[in-house]
Amino acid sequence: MAREDTSMKFFIDTADISEIKKALSWGCLAGVTTNPSLYSRIGGKLADFEAHMTKIAQLCEGLPVSAESTATTAEGMIEEGKHLASLAPNIVVKLPIGEAALEATHALKAEGVNVNMTLIFSAPQALLAAAAGARYVSPFVGRFDDIGDDGIAQLGTIVSAVKNYYAPEQCEIITASVRTPYHVTQAALLGADIATVPLGALEKCLRHPLTEQGLAAFEADWKKVTAEA
Ligand code: E4P
Repeated sequence: MAREDTSMKFFIDTADISEIKKALSWGCLAGVTTNPSLYSRIGGKLADFEAHMTKIAQLCEGLPVSAESTATTAEGMIEEGKHLASLAPNIVVKLPIGEAALEATHALKAEGVNVNMTLIFSAPQALLAAAAGARYVSPFVGRFDDIGDDGIAQLGTIVSAVKNYYAPEQCEIITASVRTPYHVTQAALLGADIATVPLGALEKCLRHPLTEQGLAAFEADWKKVTAEA
C-alpha cells in the first residue's frame, strides 16, 4: 500500500478521507499531515475531530498522521498531545513553534509521543524544535512565496542547518506549504526528507505535456497496427 525507503517521502496534506484514499491507492504515500484549516475546509466539526483523526490514522495504518493541537499553553499542549497520541499508535502531535510548544515537545518526547513542529520559517526555529526533541520539523515554502520571498531559498537554509546536526532517525524535515511540482523538485534536490503535498499538486506532479503528447502518439500508432490486423 505504501513504501518506506530512504528517498524523499511523499505525505499528503489534507484532512479529506477521499483524497487520502486516492493517494494511498497510488502506492507511494508515506504519511498524512492535517491542520485546523484543512479540517475546517472539509466542514469538520469539533465533536467529530477525534473520530476523524482516528479514522485517518486507521486508514493509514503504520504511517505517521499529524493531528494538530490547538492548545495555547504548554500544559494544554501536553494534555491534548497525550490524548491525541492515545487515539492511534501512528498519530504524531503537531504543534506550532513557540515557547509553549518547545516545553510541550520536550515533555511529550519523554512520554514517547512524536511531535511535528509546524509553522517553521527560519533555521533557528527548526534547530530549537529539533533540540527540544521534535521528531519532525515543517518549514513552509509557499507562504514565503506568497509574501514575495523565495520559499525554496529559505528551505535550503533550513535543510542545511538541520542536516549539519541531525540524522533522519532523530529529526526529519517535512517540506510544507507545497503548491507546485517545482517545490517538490527543489525539496528533493535540497535533500528534504519529506514533502507534504495537497492532492491537486500531487496530480500536477504526475502530468507533463510531453507525456501526454507521447501517449497520444502511442494511441494513434496502435490504432494503425490494430487496423492492419
Ligand atoms: C502542513 O503541515 C502545513 O500545515 C501546510 O502545508 C500549510 O500549507 P498552506 O501554506 O498551503 O496552508
